[in-house]
Amino acid sequence: MKGQPTLQRMRVSFVVLFFFAAGGVAAAQGLGLASAPPMGWNSWNHFACKVSDAIIRAQASAMAINGMKAAGYEYINIDDCWQGKRDASGIIHGNKRFPDMKALADFVHSKGLKLGIYSSPGPRTCAGYPGSYGHEEQDAKTYAAWGIDYLKYDWCSAREVYKPSQMPAVYKKMHEALAGTGRPIVYSLCEYGMDRVWRWGASVGGNLWRTTGDISDDYSRMAFIGFGQDGLEKYAGPGHWNDPDMLEVGNGHMSAEEYRTHMSLWCLLAAPLIAGNDLAKMSPETLAILTNPEVIVIDQDPAGLEGHRVSQEGPLEVWEKLLADGSKAVGLFNRGESTMPVTVRFKEIGVGSSVSIRDLWERKELGTFKGSYTAQVPRHGVVLLKIR
Ligand code: GLA
Repeated sequence: MKGQPTLQRMRVSFVVLFFFAAGGVAAAQGLGLASAPPMGWNSWNHFACKVSDAIIRAQASAMAINGMKAAGYEYINIDDCWQGKRDASGIIHGNKRFPDMKALADFVHSKGLKLGIYSSPGPRTCAGYPGSYGHEEQDAKTYAAWGIDYLKYDWCSAREVYKPSQMPAVYKKMHEALAGTGRPIVYSLCEYGMDRVWRWGASVGGNLWRTTGDISDDYSRMAFIGFGQDGLEKYAGPGHWNDPDMLEVGNGHMSAEEYRTHMSLWCLLAAPLIAGNDLAKMSPETLAILTNPEVIVIDQDPAGLEGHRVSQEGPLEVWEKLLADGSKAVGLFNRGESTMPVTVRFKEIGVGSSVSIRDLWERKELGTFKGSYTAQVPRHGVVLLKIR
């Protein structure tokens, strides 16, 4: 991406500033980890328990050359269903679909990408595979020895062995185990937003935490989750992000318009961008939605400020995100059933009365406007703007 080195430098200085200003809230896995919302892919939304070594290799190979890696995607994350049995010394092994985890990690690393894995603090994962209960340190060491770079830690059966009030301590335990390995491992908390995790997720070492139950490839579920994030923005920042769950872009049950709404909203929310489709078989339209550099840069902005809702008129919503250069990303959303005009008034987003506007999906300058801007927005659609 053009301008990437500058962006990278700005991001690092913002993180350093933030770290000292926040007195080290980033108890997370070391300074610089997840300084911008993590970008990658995860197996669950498309493959669920059919995931295998061959599928992971195919996804990594696709991501390395299809433009996604160049656009900033980095993590290839194995979700549930990789686990086999523990051996006599308690060490976890992959099941028959994952015969050699170290070799798989080496392969993913050889593509210039990173490998993520999944476990539960309970005795079993959500799909019934062995969890890390009683093996936390041992599993963290095993993951580090394999070369794992990211862990999603999913509450699941932990509810059978712990009280809800123990949740922060349980998550902290794995954070300490990961930190103890000395390997930088992004730590993703998954407990569906229980107990207002956004208030304590960073203090137990989380780099990101799910704020909701599971997404599905369905407009109303995606919209319920995405538009429901307003108010959580103050808890996100470099190193520690709200996670409204992974992307469904390209999985086939939403229109391109609806997937652009999904992607735009997640970028305004500074959400992790974890694709969930089959990267080895995707349409040019899906790839274009996942890799538009002008949209991704909104998500990855070095200030790391999560956006919020500015106004709502029935199904019409305006959202804004303040960017490091002082400009604003603004989403004009139409959750209604027919094309309707949506207006942003410059006063309500605190920009001058005369501004210049760029359309980020169309990738074109719209010109200079006074007072307000109105766009016709299609059903379930969005117009995403940069205003300065
Ligand atoms: C839970 C999580 C999902 C996925 C499944 C796997 O439902 O929220 O994201 O990891 O478990 O079983």
